[in-house]
Parts: sequence; structure tokens; C-alpha cells
Amino acid sequence: MKSCIAVVAFVLPLVRAQVPHWGPCPDPEVQPAFDLRQFMGRWFEIAKLPAQFEKGRCIETNFTLTTESSIRVVSSEILNGELRKIEGIGAIEDMKNPAKLGISYSYVLPYSPYWILSTDYVNVAVVYSCTDVLRLFHVDFAWILGRSRTLPDATIMEAREIFASNNIDIIRMVPSQQHNCDKTL
Ligand SMILES: *[C@@H]1O[C@H](CO)[C@@H](O)[C@H](O)[C@H]1NC(C)=O
Repeated sequence: MKSCIAVVAFVLPLVRAQVPHWGPCPDPEVQPAFDLRQFMGRWFEIAKLPAQFEKGRCIETNFTLTTESSIRVVSSEILNGELRKIEGIGAIEDMKNPAKLGISYSYVLPYSPYWILSTDYVNVAVVYSCTDVLRLFHVDFAWILGRSRTLPDATIMEAREIFASNNIDIIRMVPSQQHNCDKTL
């Protein structure tokens, strides 16, 4: 019991900035017959969960295929007037489930789940990442991505509905800032 408390004490500061929920991760439906190649290229962040303390704006990600099942990921944002980029790698972890990607922004960290719940490849993508912590609760991230910096309200509503119908709590999802984006990737 003592060691369990120690682990919780260690983990809690990491998750406090996020949105912990009791119980295990939900098990959402993902995009059927996901085509990694069509998903490549530039995506803009339209909305995200959770709200982050660092308020970068103009967040976008450029995905490039490196093999049939692995990708290079370059994300950028403007923070305090500076363009900042981070680079990561990603892969389909199980070819039977191609919409369940893993992405890592550091070679020392394991892949985090990056699941494409839905996409039409040309307008919008609905992305979810969830990690179980000690089977007691889970921590999750969710994004609505667009091929352009803005999406019609109806498209955003449909994307939110995809999360909701999969029991993903997006009450705290916030729109991303995509204005004054003079510096780009
Ligand atoms: C995305 O990355 C590819 C490969 O590095 C590059 O050729 C392309 O110009 C990039 N696109 C954008 C919008 O940065």
C-alpha cells in the first residue's frame, strides 16, 4: 500500500495539468480502413483537450511518411512571438488496427497512443489519446484537426459528437488560436 501511495504521489503532479477521469480508458471506435498515406501532410489544431497552461497559438503538425507504417511528425506553434518546432516519430503499432498510431516526441519516451477516431482526410480529423494510470484512472488528450485554420461550426459540432458518442468527456475542450499566424512551418 505504501508503495502505491508513493507512486500516486509521483504521478499526480504530472497529471494535475491534465484531465484525470476515474476508471479505465474508454474504448472508442476508430476510423475504419484508415489510410495513413492520405492522412499525411499539414493539419491545423482547431480545438483541444485539455486546455494547456502554455498558450502557444497557430499550432500545426506536418506528417510525412517514412515507411509504409511509420511517420515523421513536425509540430509547431508560436509562443511569445517565437516559432517553436518539435519533431517526433510515429508508427502504426498493429497493422490490423491502422488507425491506432503511436507517437513519440522523444527517443527516450515510449509511444503515446494517437488514435484517429474519424477523418475524411481532406477537411477534418478527430484524434484521441488516452493512458491508463494504475488502472484507477486515466488521462486523456483529444484534438480536432483541420486541413485549414478554421472549420465550419457544423463540422466542429460533428467532431465533438464523435467524442461524446464514444463516452469521451470533452466538456473542457477549448478552441485553439489560429489567428495572427504570419510565421508558418
Ligand atoms: C512537410 O514536410 C515535408 C517533408 O519534410 C516537406 O517537404 C513539406 O514542405 C512540409 N510541409 C509544410 C507545410 O511544412
